[in-house]
Amino acid sequence: MPAGFQQLGGETVTGTLALSVFTAVLGSLTFGYNIGVINAPQKIIEEDYNATWVHRYGEPIPTATLTSLWSLSVAIFSIGGMFSSFCVGFISEWLGRRKAMLINNLFAFIGGSMMGMSKLCRSFEMMILGRFIIGAYCGLACSLTPMYVGEIAPTSLRGALGTLHQLGIVTGILIAQILGLESLLGSEDLWPVLLGLTVMPTVLQMGLLPFCPESPRFLYIIRSQEHLAKRGLRRLTGRDEVADMLAEMKEEKRRMDMEKKVSILELFRSPFYRQPIIISILLQLSQQLSGVNAIFYYSTNIFIKAGVQSPVYATIGVGVVNCAFTVVSLFLVERMGRRTLHMLGLAGMCICAVLMTMALALLESIPWMSYISMLAIFGFVAFFEIGPGPIPWFFVAELFSQGPRPAAMAVAGCSNWTANFIIAMCFQYIAEICGPYVFLIFATLLVFFLVYTFFRVPETRGKTFDQIAANFNQYSAGGMMDMDLNKNSTELEYLGDENMN
Ligand SMILES: *[C@@H]1O[C@H](CO)[C@@H](O)[C@H](O)[C@H]1NC(C)=O
Repeated sequence: MPAGFQQLGGETVTGTLALSVFTAVLGSLTFGYNIGVINAPQKIIEEDYNATWVHRYGEPIPTATLTSLWSLSVAIFSIGGMFSSFCVGFISEWLGRRKAMLINNLFAFIGGSMMGMSKLCRSFEMMILGRFIIGAYCGLACSLTPMYVGEIAPTSLRGALGTLHQLGIVTGILIAQILGLESLLGSEDLWPVLLGLTVMPTVLQMGLLPFCPESPRFLYIIRSQEHLAKRGLRRLTGRDEVADMLAEMKEEKRRMDMEKKVSILELFRSPFYRQPIIISILLQLSQQLSGVNAIFYYSTNIFIKAGVQSPVYATIGVGVVNCAFTVVSLFLVERMGRRTLHMLGLAGMCICAVLMTMALALLESIPWMSYISMLAIFGFVAFFEIGPGPIPWFFVAELFSQGPRPAAMAVAGCSNWTANFIIAMCFQYIAEICGPYVFLIFATLLVFFLVYTFFRVPETRGKTFDQIAANFNQYSAGGMMDMDLNKNSTELEYLGDENMN
């Protein structure tokens, strides 16, 4: 074996594979960075908005206007994501995975530069527009990265390398939170650098992408360019003989050609798909309406209100817990089943939300409640990463076979970003109205999603698409799903155990 190659799980990780995965995951990092970055410097940027207002109109900004402007700056990110996540299927087939990522970087570059220069230009419009454009980048990146990584990874490493996407996101959030410290970049003068820094991984990715091969799966299955696909496979595996992988792709192509593509409209019309698409949408909603982004966007503000002494460090604590439990869930998800973990996560989040509310409400009379609220927030994030964080995404991919999958992913992505927007936009207003009781709203929603998951969501671990589809068929035919579900999930437990041994 040539020097510099490493064995992992019986499969060789070549330099090219490692480089390609690293390059792609830079997109996840940028995505996470932009989720976390507007949290810590909120107060400082708001002051700048105020200063701009004074400069323009000669009077301080009305509080309501400031809240609207800030909420818009946070939330418009999701509108950008909503639009672009809808186009991802089309763009990735038209340009190819690699070129799509390359061109997408232009969005990040333009968006990052606009945010970075908004203070200099005394324009919060530039900031808001920049957030919109960077949101569009993120909508594309958060689909392109897993798609590309999933396609270039050898089968035995697909799961392990696939999780790097989620890990990239949480690391990005953590980096943003650390750099957002006032002593680093979260200060009055340096916040534009903090926001503009998002162009760094972008430039790095642009520089590295030309050295990464285009996905062989894409070249072969979609473009039918067997020769180029072979060359890509040789580079990625470091082997001369790639016939077995090519045969696997041939099989996949054959299956794909057999299945007709399903449009979004058909997805809702056909009784065959209706139940799974509703489940997909509700799972995405359970992720966003759990209130976790209220924490990621506004935790510093929440900690200030809770009287925590160093709110920014507490926010970094949230980032660390987030990272740690992402790793924990990687180990749990193949062992415990998706449904169980999702319900465990929702239930835990619900308890933490109630605890947090109690702590915030009692804060006046019992000062040490601020610690309880902090612990509750940590627990909230930890339970999120155990279930509702990672599971909805690959659950959608598991519920649908090749034909309807792209349409289903688009619908799921769009509902996720829409819910994300609603939370980002409304949270501050609702928090102002409800005070400490705001998280009771999320707790109620969590109970609803928990009950829904219990009665309606099937277990998919270790099942083939045919088994899953048969389950829904019975449902639309006879409405006996719950009974079948129990039977199947015990079968499944059994299957899963067999797989592990
Ligand atoms: C805006 O700045 C002025 C001072 O220039 C200050 O008096 C006012 O409280 C600030 N308004 C807000 C909403 O922060």
